[in-house]
Amino acid sequence: MFITFEGPDGSGKTTQVKRIGRKLIEKGFDIVYTREPGGTEISDQVREILMNMKNKQMCPRTEILLFCAARAQLVEEVIRPALQSGKIVISDRYADSTLAYQGYGHGFEQETLKQLLNFATGNLWPDLTFLLDIPAEKGLRRRINNQEEWNRMDDYQLAFHERVRNGYHQLAAADPQRWEIIDADQSEEAVENEIMQRLARRLHF
Ligand code: TMP
Repeated sequence: MFITFEGPDGSGKTTQVKRIGRKLIEKGFDIVYTREPGGTEISDQVREILMNMKNKQMCPRTEILLFCAARAQLVEEVIRPALQSGKIVISDRYADSTLAYQGYGHGFEQETLKQLLNFATGNLWPDLTFLLDIPAEKGLRRRINNQEEWNRMDDYQLAFHERVRNGYHQLAAADPQRWEIIDADQSEEAVENEIMQRLARRLHF
């Protein structure tokens, strides 16, 4: 089973992915974690190019292709082999981030991006996706308050991040079978409990 976590910057995805992974391991599931962009030696090198504040002149088309390149390598090296051996893969971001950020954020057509994503991933889409939902401004403020490293993507204007958040809602509404929306503007414990309840229903434990 392939489970992904999506959401605006500062929504607490990375924390929750770790917490939920630990809980599932305790329950006896075999888990593989991934994080995007990154997760293999080559994908991590691409991540450095994408996030580096020195690369402010990067145009959106380059950005799209680099996210897809990092993902293609991750799918081939890590995700597909893990799924084939029966493991649960939990990913901190995946293809829906491209539809939300490069699609709704930068305004590229969803259909064009889906074709690119299908090419990059060999048509691999998640079975279940959690949207950790938080207003864009609150998410960015959290990143500043937690003194997390500010990257080139964070540096886009607030209006961009608001389009991203609205885009996530549109993606979730278009495929409610796959998406679960979680209010991420709560304590870490409350968010974790809500995710675990929905997972219990989906995985029957
Ligand atoms: P993060 O590791 O803090 O989640 O940072 C990744 C940043 O890259 C975040 O701002 C979202 C952005 N991103 C995209 O714009 N498109 C993508 O396809 C992915 C995976 C991430």
